[in-house]
Amino acid sequence: MHLIAFKDLTGQQLMEIIDKAVEVKRNSEKYWSVLARKSLAMIFQKTSTRTRVSFEVAMTQLGGHALYIDWRTTNFAIADVYDESQYLSRNVDCIMARLKKNSDLRVMAEASRVPVINGCDEKYHPSQAIADLMTMKEKKATLEGVKLVYIGIHNNVCNSLIEGCTKTGVKITTVTPIFNEPSRDDELLESAKKTGLYETTLDVKQAVKDADFVYTDTWVDMEFFLNPKYAVEKEKRVKLMMPYQINRELMKESDAYIMHDMPIHRGYEISQDMIESPKSVIYEQSENRLYSAESILLKLLEKY
Ligand code: CP
Repeated sequence: MHLIAFKDLTGQQLMEIIDKAVEVKRNSEKYWSVLARKSLAMIFQKTSTRTRVSFEVAMTQLGGHALYIDWRTTNFAIADVYDESQYLSRNVDCIMARLKKNSDLRVMAEASRVPVINGCDEKYHPSQAIADLMTMKEKKATLEGVKLVYIGIHNNVCNSLIEGCTKTGVKITTVTPIFNEPSRDDELLESAKKTGLYETTLDVKQAVKDADFVYTDTWVDMEFFLNPKYAVEKEKRVKLMMPYQINRELMKESDAYIMHDMPIHRGYEISQDMIESPKSVIYEQSENRLYSAESILLKLLEKY
C-alpha cells in the first residue's frame, strides 16, 4: 500500500489513520519500539522543514531509522527514477519522497517493493491533510458536519484537503480566485462534488461566517518564492489575492479556528495578529505533523 493521494483509501481507512495519530500522541511510549530495525528513506527534490523533521523524528520515536537524501546529491538526478527506486526499495522498508512531479512519484511507486509516501508533489500533500484533519478532530471531537473554509490558491494542499474532507464527512468550501494549473485534478473535484460536501465560491465574507475552521496557504509555491524569474507573476498574484488575506477585518464576524500548513508568509496570505490570535491552531497543526507521520508509517508498515 502506498500513500500518493487519498483516491485509493476509503473514508474508514482515512479515519483510522487520523484516530491512530491522536492515539499515538496520547500514548507515545506504547509505540517506542514498534518499528525497531526498520529504515525509512526520505528523498527530497524540494526544500522542507516540517515534512523532513516530522518523518525523521517519527522513525526515531518508533524505534527505527530515517535517512535524509537530497535528490541532487544522488544518482536519481542523472538516472532513471524506475531503476533507482528499484534499488532503493531493496535496502529500506519504506520511502517518503517530495518530488516535483507526481508522474515521477508514480513511477517510483510502481518500481518500489516497499510503501511509498507522497511528501508533497505539485498535485497532492496527503500527509499534511492528515495532520490537518487530526487537528480538527482534536478541537471538535468529531469531523462529521464540521465546516472548513480554504482561502487561497487552488493548489496541492487544497486538493488533498478537498479529498480528505469529503471522505471524512467534513464540509469544505474553497475560495480560490487563482487555480494553480499543475495541481489540476478534475476527477478529484468531480468526485468531491458528488458527495455534496464540497463547494466553491468567491464570496469570502459569507464563506467564513459560519465556518468552524478557516485555512490558508502560501500564494506562491515554495520553489518559486525567491526566484527572480517568478517576480512578475508573484506581484500579480499578491495584488489579486490581497482582498482574500486572513485578517482581523475578514474574521470580525467569525469564531472559526485559524489554520495554515506553513511555511507562513506574514503579511501576505495572513496578517501577523491572526497568526498569534487565540483562535490560531497553526502551531498545534504543525506539531501534529509528527503524530500523523507516525500513524502513516505504522499503517503502511502494517502495524495496525
Ligand atoms: N507544510 C509543509 O509541508 O511544510 P514543509 O514544506 O516545511 O515540509
